[in-house]
Amino acid sequence: MRDDQVWGIHRRHLLAGAGAGLTLAALPLRADTALTPACGDRAAVTASQGEGPYFTPDSPLKGDFTGDTAPGEVLVLQGFVLDASCRPVAGAVVGLWHADRRGRYDNSGFSLRGHQYTDEAGRYRFETCTPGDYPGRARHYHVKVRAPKGPLLTTQLYFPDDPGRLRDFGYKPALELALDGGNGRRTGRFDFVVRG
Ligand SMILES: [Fe+2]
Repeated sequence: MRDDQVWGIHRRHLLAGAGAGLTLAALPLRADTALTPACGDRAAVTASQGEGPYFTPDSPLKGDFTGDTAPGEVLVLQGFVLDASCRPVAGAVVGLWHADRRGRYDNSGFSLRGHQYTDEAGRYRFETCTPGDYPGRARHYHVKVRAPKGPLLTTQLYFPDDPGRLRDFGYKPALELALDGGNGRRTGRFDFVVRG
């Protein structure tokens, strides 16, 4: 990977995206995005995990994945990107990719793949589905996060209510989502702590 790229996203896109983040921040907040950073007990940066075999570079700028998969329960994946001092990081890129409800990845296109930039309060947000499981793995999201001047964090996020976590040696409780809601729409919160 060249030095001017972040997993296939060129720095000029990062700069453009930082502006897009500010635009997103101007949108009115909905109830499920009214978050508050709470990181007083977070002394360490978020643990990294491998990207797995299904990463595709050059993902689109996209936060709404709900049209990429069959209708069903929506999961709003959201939270903050924070630095090691618990300060929100604006303009951080957050890339997400994951399996569909049946446990299959789109390896020829960009279904269930995209990236967003944090707004000036450090918030990111995606609307998507809960990934299906597949042999040997717990349900998981793949994520890459990078502060504007920081190193790239590659990791995975897990579901604390997934029985599959008990048979997945890669599962880490520290990478669990905080789940809430129901009746067709859940929220999963995770705050990333990265080096700035
Ligand atoms: Fe995976």
